[in-house]
Amino acid sequence: MYAKFHSIGAFVPSKILSNEDLEKMVDTSDEWILKRTGIKERHIAGDNEVTSDMAAKASKIAIERAGLELEDIDLVVCATVTPDYFNMPATACIISDKIGIKNVQAFDISAACSGFVYALSIAKAFIESGMKKHVLIIGAEKFSSLVDYTDRSTCILFGDGAGAAVISATDNKDEAIVDIHASADGSYADFLVTPAPGSVNPVSQKVIDEGLNFVQMKGNETFKLAVKTLTKDVKSILAKNGIESKDIPHFIPHQANYRIIKAVGDALKMTEEQVVLTVEKYGNTSAASIPMAINDIYESGRLKKGEMMLLDTFGGGLTWASALLPFAGELL
Ligand code: COA
Repeated sequence: MYAKFHSIGAFVPSKILSNEDLEKMVDTSDEWILKRTGIKERHIAGDNEVTSDMAAKASKIAIERAGLELEDIDLVVCATVTPDYFNMPATACIISDKIGIKNVQAFDISAACSGFVYALSIAKAFIESGMKKHVLIIGAEKFSSLVDYTDRSTCILFGDGAGAAVISATDNKDEAIVDIHASADGSYADFLVTPAPGSVNPVSQKVIDEGLNFVQMKGNETFKLAVKTLTKDVKSILAKNGIESKDIPHFIPHQANYRIIKAVGDALKMTEEQVVLTVEKYGNTSAASIPMAINDIYESGRLKKGEMMLLDTFGGGLTWASALLPFAGELL
């Protein structure tokens, strides 16, 4: 039994936070943000719009596009670092309830920006072992809930959104996920961290006073390591599977910073047509970034059935992951 990437869906909240809006909030400029990150704007969820709401909307689209009924889904995995609740119930349970999936195993995983590809590897393993047939995987973030909008070094980077995919069993090797590499190195845990709430820093007056509930990042160090790791990881998965970068029609990297994407794309000798870019309009949506990007090329008609996708991501943990897989869904 093999696992195939059966369908994709996404949800983007309507409210836009532009660079010009940020100029009014912190000491920054549209020019600086665009030059250093490639980001023009990001979408921000409404006050009453939470991670599971966005995830449920993306999931419904993915299930419908797979031509499946809700009863067909036998596992729900949500990758998020901005769950509805720290730490229970899992957002995957809430999403299942919101869309009407009953009595099905559902859990969250925490792998920051690498979460969606980690979830993909979980779905693949469950399907190949014969335990599940149709796994709903989701990357969803209300990252604005983690961001300190007085910290110019982080608030310009992140946005909100959700993407979902159905991964299904198949006996046709031609449409199967080819390979997934996923890894981590916790010695870099302090590169990207939200210090509270957690067992290290339970909620206290100190947490509030020092803003320990907001994301903290060693931006420049993360940048350098991201370029190195993403490039090495992709070279390794391509070499292992005997595929050259010129034969990949869709290279879909994590959308954190245009300069990171460009450096990795150049190192792999990818053309502009091969590299999928959404960072300009969504910013970094963490675990939602890759499925939102896949959905973008799907809805614009760029992604066709059978075409090979190369996913490559990097995030807090530190975690990183790459995947090589054909798109096995039906066209719109
Ligand atoms: N507007 C204007 N100036 C800013 C700024 C902003 N929003 N943010 C930082 N600066 C300033 C800094 O204060 C610093 O000033 P100084 O030289 O006077 O001290 C200067 O710009 C350079 O800062 P630096 O952090 O070295 O810039 P950079 O080129 O590394 O760009 C990031 C900063 C955050 C855009 C970049 O490091 C990055 O994208 N890192 C990776 C982020 C990432 O991928 N995170 C998620 C991984 S999943």
